[in-house]
Amino acid sequence: MTAQAGNEAVEASVKQLLSEMTLEEKVGQMTQVDFSVVSTPEAQNAEPPVDRARLEEAVINRHVGSILNAPLSPNNRAAPIETWRKITAAIQETSSRTRLKIPVIYGIDAIHGATYTQGAVLFPQAISMAATFNPELSFKEGEITAREVRASGLPWNFAPVMDIGRQPLWPRLWETYGEDVHLSSVMGAAYIKGHQGDDFSAPDKALTCLKHYVGYSFPINGKDRTPAWIGERMLREYFLPPFEAGVQAGSPTIMVNSAEVDGIPGHANYQYLTTILRGELGFKGFTVSDWEDIKRLYTRDRLAASPKEAVRIAVMAGVDMSMVPFDFSFYDLLIELARSGEVPMSRIDEAVSRILTVKFQAGLFDTDRPVPPVEGHFATPDAVETNRQAARESIILAKNDHHILPLKKDARILVTGPTANLLSVMNGGWTITWQGDNESLYPQDKPTVFEALRKKSAGKVTYVGGQSFADPIDIDKVVAEAGNHDYVLLALGEKPYTETLGNIESLMLDQTQIDLANAVIATGKPVILLMLGGRPRIITAIADKVPGVILGFLPGMEGGEAIADIVYGDYNPDGKLPISYPRNTNDIVPYDHKPMESYDGNAYKPLYPFGHGMSYTTFETRGLSVDKAQIKMGENVTVRVSVKNTGAQKGKETVLLYLNDVAASVTRPARQLKAFKKVELEPGQEQPLSFTLTPRDLSFIGIDMKRIIEPGEFKVMVGQETAGFSVTE
Ligand code: GLC
Repeated sequence: MTAQAGNEAVEASVKQLLSEMTLEEKVGQMTQVDFSVVSTPEAQNAEPPVDRARLEEAVINRHVGSILNAPLSPNNRAAPIETWRKITAAIQETSSRTRLKIPVIYGIDAIHGATYTQGAVLFPQAISMAATFNPELSFKEGEITAREVRASGLPWNFAPVMDIGRQPLWPRLWETYGEDVHLSSVMGAAYIKGHQGDDFSAPDKALTCLKHYVGYSFPINGKDRTPAWIGERMLREYFLPPFEAGVQAGSPTIMVNSAEVDGIPGHANYQYLTTILRGELGFKGFTVSDWEDIKRLYTRDRLAASPKEAVRIAVMAGVDMSMVPFDFSFYDLLIELARSGEVPMSRIDEAVSRILTVKFQAGLFDTDRPVPPVEGHFATPDAVETNRQAARESIILAKNDHHILPLKKDARILVTGPTANLLSVMNGGWTITWQGDNESLYPQDKPTVFEALRKKSAGKVTYVGGQSFADPIDIDKVVAEAGNHDYVLLALGEKPYTETLGNIESLMLDQTQIDLANAVIATGKPVILLMLGGRPRIITAIADKVPGVILGFLPGMEGGEAIADIVYGDYNPDGKLPISYPRNTNDIVPYDHKPMESYDGNAYKPLYPFGHGMSYTTFETRGLSVDKAQIKMGENVTVRVSVKNTGAQKGKETVLLYLNDVAASVTRPARQLKAFKKVELEPGQEQPLSFTLTPRDLSFIGIDMKRIIEPGEFKVMVGQETAGFSVTE
């Protein structure tokens, strides 16, 4: 946690407050309920949509310390910022009438901007932010998101996701920064620093929440909330380091994994939640359960013999706050457990101290602080432009045979496909509603891909397709219209989804999309394939037959403009894949594969590899060198290389530095990303770059599960070049 101002003063305040609290008030602080618990269907039409009696029952009578989620039912949808400000003012006023005036902390999923505040700046989703390989943009996304949630009166954002995405079937892959540990750690840490600044009590800063700790993102069958089998070495090599980076970046809260690892549900895992998180990572903040997951230790996992036993197991494992979320069962049961001594007061005091510390550090007790004005803090032009740039840098040009792209402004383009003319397919879940699929709630002033192309075009741009993702597309009409155009932009992919509703049985595209693609290809017109959606789908048979492929994933509310900028060459694409794009459904091999996955049929052979992304210009790296051919254990290595724009157009290039530990007591990946730098170069411009590799970069988890460095040969790789050095005792 960053050194929040006056830690000693906070510690004293927490100690004093704790000494005055009753058991009920303490347990209330550990209780988080959904907004619906303080509202009613009738109240939904009120302004604000709270039910005063239910709000008082929760906050005054049950001492509830936290409320979460979007305020408007049905299906939890975004509210105007003015409504949010009234909601949070009503909650604050109610908590000011409690005996000890402990403020409620409101938590929200603002995972790509203030998703539940109408008109907020909604960024590319994490997978697409990772594709920018631009930590500065991630920092700015954090800054703008914090400013806009705080302007809504909300201090706590359940983001970033620090799970890494190594299972492309998983319906929340797009909420991760991709398959690489280093990229996820760098992008996540930058987001946290932008979101929290040096003091997250500032009026334009807000708290973050690392999620979902740990190992949630690797279900063996690819379906959400199903078992992961992650050995300790894999946990320590791949899944813990991004959380370690998040803790070091100062995030004060952590949300727990909803699933299970090695047969132990995240909410029952003392080793993960206490021994490792507190003892090794040194986390000082508080943990919050995920949705209803303490109850699920009994209702789903059959780990607990009763609801009360579930509460005891979770609290004793290290869960500090329960996202119950629809009732006061956790509150009632934990009071019973405390009174019977099955949960010692020391454990309750520990959890409550952590929660109160964060509330003090967030400035929530300073109730006379003005909420920042909406004007100048919400959906500002500079924020929208930052978002547009993030969207541009998130787009990956994967194929461009015969330089078919960019197209001329007067080109006649037929645009078709299920993702061509919708905003929801560029934003994904957690957008205005939980599933992000209510297109009618999306802002009318933001263009879809088709609308953005038409707006920019000096020629003829025609759309043939439906009004919704599932609408049938008249293939005969598409084929006929293709004859009147020079190009076809074929937009395929996925409808928005999150969590279990996004589970699939295969990465194959559905047959209707394949049939449409085959019909379009058969016209003989040059086709540009655009993929939008949260995870890679198997497009090999289509991609092999078209000259242009653009991978858009989830570029956010400015995605349409950004894609049009790239199609017409008003922006030179520079996105790179943060995940391997599989060639076949069972070809799920990450780029940092093991040496035994380098041979023959076992070889890593994705359709597009991690780090792939083309430009309208060309770049060359050369002169790779290390400052010492031999270093002692514990020393750094400086790696130098230069990068040159060898083409005729300005562009940005990300230079990726990989490491291979040539021989070690545990098999080492053929290569691992250890550093990257993104530079903008004019045609002909060359820039020298240097990177520092630290002992941590050379380390790995050894036989005894401890992080070690072994003497021996190492290789660094940039582009086509390799340089070596050795480490001696
Ligand atoms: C959901 C998600 C989690 C989210 C939480 C609150 O189930 O797993 O990412 O923050 O509940 O909405």
